[in-house]
Amino acid sequence: MAVRLILFTSAFAFVTSYYVPGSKSNLLSVIQVGKQQHYDLGQYARIRYDNFLSKKYTKEEFRVEATNSDRTFMSAASNVAGLFPPIGDQIWKIGLNWQPIPVFPVEIAFNYRLPKWTESVFPQPLTNLTSILFTSFSFNEELQKITTGPFLKTLIEHFEGYIANSTSTQKYKQFSCHDINLSSILISLGAYIPGTLPGFASTIFFELREINGIHYINIFYRNDGILIPITVAGCNFDCNLTDFKNIVSNLIISVEEWYAVCKS
Ligand SMILES: *[C@@H]1O[C@H](CO)[C@@H](O)[C@H](O)[C@H]1NC(C)=O
Ligand SMILES: *[C@@H]1O[C@H](CO)[C@@H](O)[C@H](O)[C@H]1NC(C)=O
Ligand SMILES: *[C@@H]1O[C@H](CO)[C@@H](O)[C@H](O)[C@H]1NC(C)=O
Ligand SMILES: *[C@@H]1O[C@H](CO)[C@@H](O)[C@H](O)[C@H]1NC(C)=O
Repeated sequence: MAVRLILFTSAFAFVTSYYVPGSKSNLLSVIQVGKQQHYDLGQYARIRYDNFLSKKYTKEEFRVEATNSDRTFMSAASNVAGLFPPIGDQIWKIGLNWQPIPVFPVEIAFNYRLPKWTESVFPQPLTNLTSILFTSFSFNEELQKITTGPFLKTLIEHFEGYIANSTSTQKYKQFSCHDINLSSILISLGAYIPGTLPGFASTIFFELREINGIHYINIFYRNDGILIPITVAGCNFDCNLTDFKNIVSNLIISVEEWYAVCKS
């Protein structure tokens, strides 16, 4: 077997916020569990990316964005507390192993309303459809464009930006969003595993790796604490960036196009 030089260059993580069920009685305990799981996920990411991401938080290397809800902001805050405990001159209060790290509102079209016509399919039966296989491809492609098009565009631009100039692009970018958003992405990539739904603090990691001078995307899905590799339909696990772009090209839309589709 040939020895491959693997250089890990950039990462992009999608994390679900903790889930608050309808019942109010156990709301507090759910919130506490949610915080703990996000903190644990932050520690997990610290171990996974320790050789790649500096222990010290800087805005040049890391950025976290959250969709517009209190849950996703709190999840993100719990998460970065585990990922970036203060070290050295960042320690500002003895005995407090925490530092403030900014959480930004999402820049991509994740949190806006779906167009009127999708109300007949969203959130139901679309949400239930995520646990069974597609029935009609074209029907789904139109929806996938709306649910994941701007995200896929941001992802590719991020990685291309990093390849073009690694000093002007963050090494690690994280989004705090909702479980439906994760399912949408897996479905769009043709990598949805029937019967699974994203749980607390579930995450999709997109990693850009350079192997013998070629850039590949590797995708991992972490759900219930188990990390599994994800293979994009029509590609290998090591999916070169060119192939990845071609595969998702039908789905990619800009935020402007997204607004146009959603107005019609
Ligand atoms: C969605 O799935 C749930 C759980 O299986 C079921 O109770 C509900 O009736 C389904 N809703 C629709 C609109 O299919
Ligand atoms: C993400 O989830 C939120 C909340 O469920 C929803 O309003 C939004 O439309 C979703 N966005 C995408 C792109 O799936
Ligand atoms: C890369 O970005 C940095 C910071 O923005 C800038 O100073 C530098 O000139 C850029 N390098 C190239 C090759 O564009
Ligand atoms: C990516 O892979 C395809 C075949 O799967 C190949 O044709 C193409 O040259 C590769 N691109 C790069 C940049 O290696």
